[in-house]
Amino acid sequence: MNTESLNGKRILITGAAGFIGGRLVARLLGELRDATLVGLDDLNAYYDPALKERRLANAARLASNSTCDWRFVRGSVTDRGTLDALFAEYDFEIVVHLAAQAGVRYSIERPDAYVEANVVGFFNILEACRARLAQGAAFDRLTYASSSSVYGNSKAFPLSTTAKADEPVSLYAATKRSNELFARSYAALYGLKSVGLRFFTVYGPEGRPDMFYYSAAERLVAGQSVRLFNNGNCRRDFTYIDDALEGITRVMARGPIAETSEIYNLGAGRSTSIVEFIETLRDALVESGALPSDFDLQSHIVLTEAQPGDVEATLADVEPFERAYGRRPSTGIGDGLRRFADWFTEYKAQTGR
Ligand SMILES: NC(=O)c1ccc[n+]([C@@H]2O[C@H](COP(=O)([O-])OP(=O)(O)OC[C@H]3O[C@@H](n4cnc5c(N)ncnc54)[C@H](O)[C@@H]3O)[C@@H](O)[C@H]2O)c1
Repeated sequence: MNTESLNGKRILITGAAGFIGGRLVARLLGELRDATLVGLDDLNAYYDPALKERRLANAARLASNSTCDWRFVRGSVTDRGTLDALFAEYDFEIVVHLAAQAGVRYSIERPDAYVEANVVGFFNILEACRARLAQGAAFDRLTYASSSSVYGNSKAFPLSTTAKADEPVSLYAATKRSNELFARSYAALYGLKSVGLRFFTVYGPEGRPDMFYYSAAERLVAGQSVRLFNNGNCRRDFTYIDDALEGITRVMARGPIAETSEIYNLGAGRSTSIVEFIETLRDALVESGALPSDFDLQSHIVLTEAQPGDVEATLADVEPFERAYGRRPSTGIGDGLRRFADWFTEYKAQTGR
């Protein structure tokens, strides 16, 4: 088990009620011994907060059978006072920063939300960590979420962290790239150790309703049509949540390997066309009983033009991560979407949401 060295540690996880954060907390509560886990999240209503509450309820249930201490704090990373108080109280050794205003399209509507949560919020996290380092406290390393969107419309596949990433096509991407540069400067100035992970389209159970696979499942089940942008000519490196978690926990446990501040892709290393992806999703929803076996997918698909901010294709170079942390994602979209569809079908049946 790669998380052994995290036993007994004091760990802050921001965005703990989010998709990746919620699953990470659940995994850590299941695996670690005697750790103190503090989750921070503002529980905003960007998507249905009931899902965030459900993830927290799951964490509370797991915590009652764990030797770890779990505490959830509702608050914003944009509030320095909240962060300072938490750092003073818990003297965190490891910080995992996942809180952010996510989503590419919404950054066109509400750029201010991205600057606040992603730029000011990230700066506050860095400052809180720096202050602890300056006081000689136990803080050791930061792991934070970046995004494949920083590659913009680059066609240099597989996308590599050694290539330039200075042509973002959305403000979301620009905020994530700025996080990486901020982290580099804090490493140079203060020796603050960090690893930024460029996640590539993470999907799975308890996922995000604003993302394609989830909203497509909702629309198909409701008998509505699904739009495939760029006339269906998009490709994505889809990363199953458990593969992403395996990557995050390895990085949490070891920190950067060679330099003070590092950046890695966290993708599957395989590119799938959106058409193949939705066909696989249809099959999974038929298997889970959410769609009838004679469901006609073609009549529910509308091909449409590309949306501003969207990129055409992504494919991660996953070699550097494998070399550093000894792991390459293994879940294919068939298995991953089946697990998503099973969860989705049960969730709908239980909650009616
Ligand atoms: N899921 C993906 O495919 C993907 C891809 C690339 C990058 N990312 C990044 O990974 C991280 C986690 O993503 P996710 O998919 O779990 O998204 P998510 O929206 O489910 O989780 C983010 C959480 O952060 C919280 N949050 C937002 N602003 C906050 C603030 N100011 N203070 C405290 N909490 C705040 C939200 O309430 C939410 O629960 C994000 O940084 C996201 O940008 C995700």
